[in-house]
Amino acid sequence: MNNFDTRFTRRQILKCGFIGVTSAIAWPVLGKSKNANRAVEFTAAKSQVKILSGSQGSTEVWSYNELIPGPVLRIRQGQRVQVVAENKLDQGTTMHWHGIRLPNAMDGVPYVTQAPIAPGEKFIYDFVADDAGTFWYHPHTNSMEQVARGLSGPLIVEELNPPDVDRDELWVLDDWRLTRDGGIHPSFNHPRDMSHAGRLGNVVTVNGWEMDDFRLRVGERIRLRIVNVANARIFGLEFEDHAPWLVALDGHPVRPKQFNDSPLVLAPGMRADLIIDASGAKGKRYAVVDGFYSRSRYKLLDLFYAGSAQIQATRKPPKQLPPNPVPEPNLSRAEQHSIVFEGGAMGGMREARMQGREFSIRDMLEHGMFWAINGEIYPPMKLGDSVDPLLSLKKDRSYVLSMQNKTAWPHPIHLHGHSFRVIRRNDKKIEDPPLRDEVLLMPRDKVDIAFVADNPGDWMFHCHILAHQKSGMMGVIRVES
Ligand code: C2O
Ligand code: CU
Repeated sequence: MNNFDTRFTRRQILKCGFIGVTSAIAWPVLGKSKNANRAVEFTAAKSQVKILSGSQGSTEVWSYNELIPGPVLRIRQGQRVQVVAENKLDQGTTMHWHGIRLPNAMDGVPYVTQAPIAPGEKFIYDFVADDAGTFWYHPHTNSMEQVARGLSGPLIVEELNPPDVDRDELWVLDDWRLTRDGGIHPSFNHPRDMSHAGRLGNVVTVNGWEMDDFRLRVGERIRLRIVNVANARIFGLEFEDHAPWLVALDGHPVRPKQFNDSPLVLAPGMRADLIIDASGAKGKRYAVVDGFYSRSRYKLLDLFYAGSAQIQATRKPPKQLPPNPVPEPNLSRAEQHSIVFEGGAMGGMREARMQGREFSIRDMLEHGMFWAINGEIYPPMKLGDSVDPLLSLKKDRSYVLSMQNKTAWPHPIHLHGHSFRVIRRNDKKIEDPPLRDEVLLMPRDKVDIAFVADNPGDWMFHCHILAHQKSGMMGVIRVES
């Protein structure tokens, strides 16, 4: 894991005068109204926000409702959501509801499920959230640029009986590539980013700013929802002197398990729900370190036990959250398909196909393409284009996808419209296989996932490192109706 040049230090840009306080941000919560089905409005537009702390100026971003991250869309399980998405950018956009199992037409994928929302136009997303958990939303149009410029936000679906905690908190982790004067670096087509580890940034934020302290009170129990909305950065979080309980991954409950010796790895797009018992001492700080890229370990923030009141509590292990209504694949009858990821720097790929045409590696480089899935490069699309699916699946049948990473880079692979069990890694069966919508394949990894193809439509299947997605590492999996 140490061959990545991430050229990153936490305060590379900001060297002077940060303010070490945890000020409460005014984060509007949408969706929590008495009238359960009220529509909420999201407007994508340019705005100025303060990302860098201290005396540095503000940053021009593209945001939803002038907020970074976008507004917290908080609803209850089973509730219907209607989002009026308005585009005030000067290019087309869409909104994708990452991890939500919804009807295909609401999935927000340009040229596949809808035409991009043109500048000045609106589109209404309308769906019911069947699964409780921590999700997020982002554009699926020119995502490489639109997400990097700031368009994304959290989507929380509350359980009907949420677990008993003192606070329900959220960390939206993001990674920005900023210029010296605090602007978004306009390098969205850099071949090195596309062929290597993606657009890694130079400033990491939590909830849209350089958070230094996250305050805890002695003895309290919090639920912490962590969402990685970064373009490319994979986080590996270590909690000093704390042993958080992992209770959900990608929205779905797991059997509560404490982790203290192994880091919590979250690739772009992934989420984890933790229960943390505040076992520290009053007045003390405990570091949360991101050590995923071992050459650039850095402190993300401190858990800070400020002088606030102490809560007396003896804690039992948290209970497992209720399962979501996801159908279980039948492994003995599942049909197996193999999926091979190829390309990238040091990958040795020779050729691939795009829209039925053979592409030599030279042609690929000329077209800014670097990756292929089963030999197919996902093409740049425009209105009227369509792309043949990688696989056509029969509705309600069980499938195993045996995936192989033949590249020299990690890839977090995401499937739309379904959640899958991660059943095998490098020929080893996984006990208690987690239900997820994304799985990280390290270089040369082989990972098997299993799911029931119960949701008809054309679903995207891609790497969530957005530079890889943009340069070919995407495909369509069709579920026949
Ligand atoms: Cu987070 Cu295809 O998406
Ligand atoms: Cu990738």
